[in-house]
Amino acid sequence: MATETVTDTTLPNHDETEKEATEFEKNRKRYQDLISTFPHVKGWRPKAPFIKYCGHWWVQHILEGSLYAREFFQARPSDFLVCSYPKTGTTWLKSLTFAIANRSRFEDSTNPLLKRNPHELVPFIEIEFPLFPHIDVLQDKGNTLFATHLPHELLPDSVVKSGCKMVYIWRDPKDTFISVWHFYQKNRSESGSLNGLEECFDMFCQGISGEGPYLDHVLGYWKAHQENPDTILFLKYETVRADPLPYVTRLAEFMGYGFTAEEEKNGAVEKVVNLCSFETMKNLEANKGDKEREDHPSTYVNSAFFRKGKIGDWENYLTPDMAARMDGIMEEKFKGTGLLENGKRELALHDMVHE
Ligand code: A3P
Repeated sequence: MATETVTDTTLPNHDETEKEATEFEKNRKRYQDLISTFPHVKGWRPKAPFIKYCGHWWVQHILEGSLYAREFFQARPSDFLVCSYPKTGTTWLKSLTFAIANRSRFEDSTNPLLKRNPHELVPFIEIEFPLFPHIDVLQDKGNTLFATHLPHELLPDSVVKSGCKMVYIWRDPKDTFISVWHFYQKNRSESGSLNGLEECFDMFCQGISGEGPYLDHVLGYWKAHQENPDTILFLKYETVRADPLPYVTRLAEFMGYGFTAEEEKNGAVEKVVNLCSFETMKNLEANKGDKEREDHPSTYVNSAFFRKGKIGDWENYLTPDMAARMDGIMEEKFKGTGLLENGKRELALHDMVHE
């Protein structure tokens, strides 16, 4: 999960002689003191307890970064935010938004997406912004693309005040869980081995997971989208995966980078879809094997962000009873919200066309 991209073991070196303390480092003790007063419970790993803050659960370093982002991130009206719960399609949306917004800047063969992991091109406001402010994308004031796993109600005030647009993606909770569980196993941190699948699943169902409860995360953005459909575009992984073209066209339009009739005729939408497809991305040298991101240390290799990209992989891991439990919780939670219908493809497309 991208939220675990860094851990205490990979935090910037605090050696005073090396360079001046960052703003985050100057504030970190204050966050740590505050966090120590919040409820802590057993986490998915022995040395990574979950900490409760504003109704959601966090691991320590992500909560520190989130508090910093809430206090210091200054969104501009022209910024665009990729919002998601971990493992629901963040990497894909990062590549799509980058490819859309920068398509006139690069030739097909020089697109940075061919050489770098999408996470290097669209920084998280609660990870890179606090912890790695010196990386190239954050030094580039022309960059307007940012990402976050923060729940909607915890976005920095500046995001809401600026009126900047955002896109949210969600995914079937069973596949989300399976994706998170596999991803965590690839974490190279020293917080101990991951609990078994059954135990983690039980906690996930109870809402105890990083930035969880997952369903509340989805619901928060869904309500915000319903209140402000012009500010928040709402997508579902499964529907986009089944038929990316109309959604990529809509995303571009929503971002203010709509494809011209000429571009559509010349296959520009297909080009973006193909460049950002799971199959293309997974097979790039930059995203293969043990390749690391180039801009800052991470506890994940780039390939960890590309596993199977399948719909329904949960069937290979969850029993029918486990699946029924998760489905029941979701149905109960989303009843009457319109979200269950959002999962159905034709309706989702219909909604978008009529927004
Ligand atoms: P699986 O673990 O089910 O394969 P995130 O980017 O939010 O961390 O989510 C990761 C999930 O999205 C993983 O799912 C990953 O394989 C899948 N994924 C990554 N890139 C993708 C792409 N370009 N298209 C579709 N799915 C993608």
